[in-house]
Amino acid sequence: MPARHPAVVDPPTRTHTGPDTGRTPDAAAGNRVGTVTSRPVRSPAMPRVFSGIQPTGDLHLGNLLGAVRNWVQDQHAADSFYCIVDLHALTVPKAPGEVGRSSLEMAQTLLACGLDPDVCTLFVQSHVPEHAELSWLVQCVTAMGELNRMTQFKDKSAKQANKTDLVSVGLFTYPALQAADILLYDTDRVPVGEDQRQHIELTRDVAERFNARFGDTFVIPQATIPRAGARVMDLQEPTDKMSKSAASDAGVVYLMDDLAVTAKKFKRAVTDSDGEVRYDPSAKPGVSNLLSILGAVTGRSAEELGEEYSQYGPLKADTADAVVELLTPIQQRFRELVEDPAGTSELLAIGAEKARAVAGAVYTRAVDHVGLLPRA
Ligand code: TYM
Repeated sequence: MPARHPAVVDPPTRTHTGPDTGRTPDAAAGNRVGTVTSRPVRSPAMPRVFSGIQPTGDLHLGNLLGAVRNWVQDQHAADSFYCIVDLHALTVPKAPGEVGRSSLEMAQTLLACGLDPDVCTLFVQSHVPEHAELSWLVQCVTAMGELNRMTQFKDKSAKQANKTDLVSVGLFTYPALQAADILLYDTDRVPVGEDQRQHIELTRDVAERFNARFGDTFVIPQATIPRAGARVMDLQEPTDKMSKSAASDAGVVYLMDDLAVTAKKFKRAVTDSDGEVRYDPSAKPGVSNLLSILGAVTGRSAEELGEEYSQYGPLKADTADAVVELLTPIQQRFRELVEDPAGTSELLAIGAEKARAVAGAVYTRAVDHVGLLPRA
């Protein structure tokens, strides 16, 4: 059984500094960086965190409460890598140039939300080629049956098929690329919303399989899913999660919506007809969603908040006010950042360098363990 968290740090077996490897150590990026070790190197004092987000459309309240807000907190407590997963976005058809533009905008949005590039590593997936490279090795230890069971594949492929668009092989193998993203960074924790739980479980399974077959190569990561905000629901269809691909925008609160529109979306949120406020997601999905959002934004429990309201109107108004207060400074900062696209691109280039120093070392470890013929 491979050690998950070896207590002893192995001495490096090989160091890649040759100009042809493109994997030059970056001392500034930390002491676990740029050195190829035969086994994962752990640092319990500074856990490694990795997470990703697709640059498709604008960020919405579900992304913020389920993931990004926790990234902002984690960056101070962990060695954090956050990735704009542009290759994942290509799994459904995109116009030429669209993904590039939205990647820059996503970076500006994440910075506006509070990611600090001096503290965390923020980068674009395609700037670190090891993601695509490792994904091939991961695909070769992933079963078709495992990918067939992924609920996101079932949902997204059904949507694509309805549009008579092609359902790409990339959409099918997407979770193997996601596993590669995570495993490339010796990741301990993956902060995500509830909808990503199954993908992280698959990552653990394939990493264990790879380790069993080729020796201790990958750290086995864990999902961290927030207690509040893990599954923000659509305000109009409260049994569906809030999603960029919703049929209508009326129930989706985008971070960059005009704040008057945001307030209106809450005012028009679907509740029910019995007029009673209580937290009961199966019987009262709309009301419970508002209580969850208010709870996640204010740091209070949804159940407790449910006892403080007797009418829907004040609950909607207070939830709208809390969300508007949360979004106001984010929008201000975003407006400043869009004035300087070159500044954001520079930050992303630095992030990619830092990421590559880690990813290159782990990828080399994986290739070593598989035993491919080293290039002379
Ligand atoms: P994506 O881009 O769909 O979503 C980014 C993050 O937002 C969370 N999220 C939500 N949380 C609560 N309520 C909602 N309604 C809601 N909608 C989205 C997601 O759980 C996610 O944490 N496959 C991933 C991207 C990815 C990734 C990775 C994530 C690629 N590689 C490696 C983690 C680690 C995705 O499509 O997320």
